[in-house]
Amino acid sequence: MTKPGEEITKFDLQSQDTLDTRRQELLRLFPEVHTESGEINFDALRSSLGDAVNVGPEGFGMSWPGKTECSRVIQRQSIATLLPVIDESVNWDTTENVIIEGDNLEVLKVLQKAYLGKVKMIYIDPPYNTGSDFIYPDNYTESLKTYLHYTGQVDDEGRRFSTSTESSGRFHSKWLNMMYPRLSLARDLLTDDGVIFVSIDDHELPHLLKLMDEIFGSEDRLGTITVVSNWKGRSDAHGIASANDYVIAYAKSSFESFGMEVSDEIRATYKFFDEEKKELYRLLPLRKSGTNSRKEDRPNMFYPLFVDPETRKVSVTKTKGSVEVLPMFPDGREGRWRWGKETAQEKSELLQGVSISGRGWDVHARDYLGGEGAERRTAVKSVWIDPKFSSDAGTYQVKELLGPNIFDFPKPIGLIEQMLSMSTSKNDLVMDFFAGSGSLAHAVMSQNRKDGGRRRFILVQLPEPTLEDSAAFKSGLKTISSITRIRVARAANDLASKNENTLDEDLQSEFDDGFRSFRLSESNFAAWDAGAIEGDEKKLEQQLFSQVEHVLPGRTNQDILFELMLKSRYQLTTPVESVMVGKCEVWKVAAGEMVAVMDSGLTVEVIREIASWKPTSVVVLDRCFVGDDSLKANARKIFEDSKVDLKTV
Ligand SMILES: C[S@@+](CC[C@H](N)C(=O)[O-])C[C@H]1O[C@@H](n2cnc3c(N)ncnc32)[C@H](O)[C@@H]1O
Repeated sequence: MTKPGEEITKFDLQSQDTLDTRRQELLRLFPEVHTESGEINFDALRSSLGDAVNVGPEGFGMSWPGKTECSRVIQRQSIATLLPVIDESVNWDTTENVIIEGDNLEVLKVLQKAYLGKVKMIYIDPPYNTGSDFIYPDNYTESLKTYLHYTGQVDDEGRRFSTSTESSGRFHSKWLNMMYPRLSLARDLLTDDGVIFVSIDDHELPHLLKLMDEIFGSEDRLGTITVVSNWKGRSDAHGIASANDYVIAYAKSSFESFGMEVSDEIRATYKFFDEEKKELYRLLPLRKSGTNSRKEDRPNMFYPLFVDPETRKVSVTKTKGSVEVLPMFPDGREGRWRWGKETAQEKSELLQGVSISGRGWDVHARDYLGGEGAERRTAVKSVWIDPKFSSDAGTYQVKELLGPNIFDFPKPIGLIEQMLSMSTSKNDLVMDFFAGSGSLAHAVMSQNRKDGGRRRFILVQLPEPTLEDSAAFKSGLKTISSITRIRVARAANDLASKNENTLDEDLQSEFDDGFRSFRLSESNFAAWDAGAIEGDEKKLEQQLFSQVEHVLPGRTNQDILFELMLKSRYQLTTPVESVMVGKCEVWKVAAGEMVAVMDSGLTVEVIREIASWKPTSVVVLDRCFVGDDSLKANARKIFEDSKVDLKTV
């Protein structure tokens, strides 16, 4: 017989094991390389890959000081958590949006379990490394500790954290070391058909492209978009005044673009209206222009078409009274049609004779806009020029909501809306982990109001302090994360008030104008720090002592619940309900799929009642057993009999 209390599995407080995720992925693709002990047989892998293996000494790739350490950073698991901050949230009970205050490296790790493969689109606008921006001082071995120091605003030696300057050494490497682990973890969060967009300028564009080629694969590079952000050119430029920055886009693996809306100018060229089809259309010459447009380029596309002068109908065969038309240039040279003869026959109802003064008849093809009032999409182009993409637009949008000079260089929401519209459907989850003033959230809410969508967002922003002489600090906004929250809340109100008269009330109430606010913190549980205690008797004693009551002082049941949820793969907006069973408060997550018990009142009857709900898993804090080993043994037995997975923490 098992001893009381034995065999209850311990709850895993660590973040996703990324190394294991990737190992599993490899084993899924190459099951034949599986060794008996569950490891990878490299010789087998090499032979499975055949010619695709490059065993030569000279690889094509990028290397920089610190790169090897980056891989370790990615693999190192986190035991941090996210604490709910209800009084800084808006519509806590109903919203599905999330704003997290914290260092994004640690946060990306904490989110791995719950959001792996769940995010459709990520947009980030990281520091451009211009020499005057703040680069987060990752300490690889103790990134959470660095963060906690950081939020105290001093480093280990008591110095203030500072900006990275060209002269501060390893300038580009520092930036790459900051970006590599974050982008790599971000890729894991994307859905297979997901996409990431990254804003950048000339300072790091070449490095970033190589870095992303390495993380995402060059075959998944979708392109580099030049965004004209400042027509006048930057005044601080030495050499060529840059008038643009870039957005680079990479797919996770199977992304398909929804294209972009045609501009108002192009829309205006659809001048004709087809009464029958109720569609706008324009007429485009059927004769090819530009390159490869001569007869000798495609001789089979030089053939006669026949126009009926009465009806303007076109056919490939001669009809009574019709006029023969050949694809001729105005100067008399022989050209060619855009369509072959077969296509012209198939689509002859789209063809129309057009009389050109002094030159007789020509043939044009109808190009429809796609239904009256319908939006027609075209392929996304690599240059984006429009006042709505300018940095002035971004500055104006934040000024309208928060006053002047609160945040430097916010991205215009028009730019982000364009990315949302080409990459997301109405229910997708999107993310920005360099959130700044929260422009992504503003764009999501604006886009949702335009198309009735329910896209949800996750923002992550460091509590970077604002400078004491800044307008933000003077108006009480002492950190950038406080700017993020207030901007998003005000943007929601602003959009609601603008829409007030145009939408019916039902639709108004459907929009998600809120967000849940969370703060990165160390785990609620004083965990074993195996590395630290090795050979240190005193620390071992302290750790043993700390296990007696292992919940950190001041932590609430809500705090603990969110840690249990996140680490059991439940998202931060999963519905939660607390019910009393006898004298015990029991938490039901996702309509009772998971049940958590954190406080006193646990009895055999309570355990039986919970088991009767048939949850998938139950997590019970050790303290609930109040040292009663037979209660523990009963819990193990009852849940085992009901096939419920029980864990303690
Ligand atoms: C260029 S700004 C983003 C601006 C934003 N796109 C907007 O429209 O307002 C970059 C932001 O990333 C934040 N940041 C830098 N390092 C970070 C880190 N390690 N974790 C989270 N945020 C970070 C900075 O505080 C800054 O607000």
